[in-house]
Amino acid sequence: MIILGIESSCDDTSAAVVIDGTAIQSNVISGQEEIHNCFGGVVPELASRSHLSAIQPVVEKALSDAKISLDDIDLIATTQGPGLSGSLLVGYSYAKSLSLVKKIPFVGVDHMAGHALAILLEEETPDFPFIALTASGGTSSIFLVKSSTDFELLGRTRDDAAGEAFDKVAKVLGLPYPGGPHIAAHAETGDEKSIKFPRAWLDKDGFDFSFSGLKTAVLNYHNKIVQKNGSITKEERADICASFQQAVIDVLVTKTINAARTHGISTVVLGGGVSSNRALRLAFSHECDKCKLQFFVPAAKLCTDNAAMIAVAGYHKYLRFGPGNLSDDVYSRSQLG
Ligand code: KG4
Repeated sequence: MIILGIESSCDDTSAAVVIDGTAIQSNVISGQEEIHNCFGGVVPELASRSHLSAIQPVVEKALSDAKISLDDIDLIATTQGPGLSGSLLVGYSYAKSLSLVKKIPFVGVDHMAGHALAILLEEETPDFPFIALTASGGTSSIFLVKSSTDFELLGRTRDDAAGEAFDKVAKVLGLPYPGGPHIAAHAETGDEKSIKFPRAWLDKDGFDFSFSGLKTAVLNYHNKIVQKNGSITKEERADICASFQQAVIDVLVTKTINAARTHGISTVVLGGGVSSNRALRLAFSHECDKCKLQFFVPAAKLCTDNAAMIAVAGYHKYLRFGPGNLSDDVYSRSQLG
């Protein structure tokens, strides 16, 4: 089955062609960093307008990169939610129109299912069940993934997503949007033990996250230095980045591994933009080794938003539940689990 995946939940317009939920033929991503950079975050109105102009050329490029035409497509899988409604509506309406005109079945996909199943596009894939940590700019959640269509939500953030915390801290430190890669780069030269930022463990046995207290602690720490010295040095900024990043890593790793232990699951899988963080990947690899858990993480380009992962999740959803309904609407909060 040849699947056309379409993704437009936030600030990336993406289209991909994937065969049978495993083999990527093309995966085109058009980002909007330049548009949102000066605002320090995504401006929803600008995001949806930018999707409008990008969607057609991006889909055409995905088809031409895969050396096929629309007539070869058996299924259109498109992100239905969660995300920014205006952004989602562009990809979702486009997919429904294509489906109607070309008489190709379409299926709406939960973006978080895409992140949790992106690993199925790699050569080495995990067996079900597994624990998935999906850490992105919009949400951060832990799922028990029982099969490719059966997800149990074990925990989620109660306030900021992990990526959102990276982006907001970057803004405080005067770094560009999206902040994750910039914080990670500055953290390389900093000392992660230099500042004791708080870790929100919440309920001892629970799997929910909270990152807003950490973000405020960084803001206060930064402001104190600026009040005292007028500005922060390069070294102080590197130490803040490293210490902040370590606080996020400690919580994500500990809670995810606890979830695996509590549920007697021997495999941990990462997904979402934050999973492209090198220090996070290393920490997971190390801790999973220690705990005798199998650990899987997709290549960085499959961690951030992309349509190939939507094609995979859509393929499995369609095989189990059949096509979506043309009267279905987008949603802004994940309905997974
Ligand atoms: O999954 P994604 O591309 O989009 C959403 O679904 O939100 O994730 C984007 C998020 C942004 O918040 C970005 O700052 C973060 O992922 N991110 C990172 C890194 N690369 C991207 N966070 C930490 N370290 C990175 N290397």
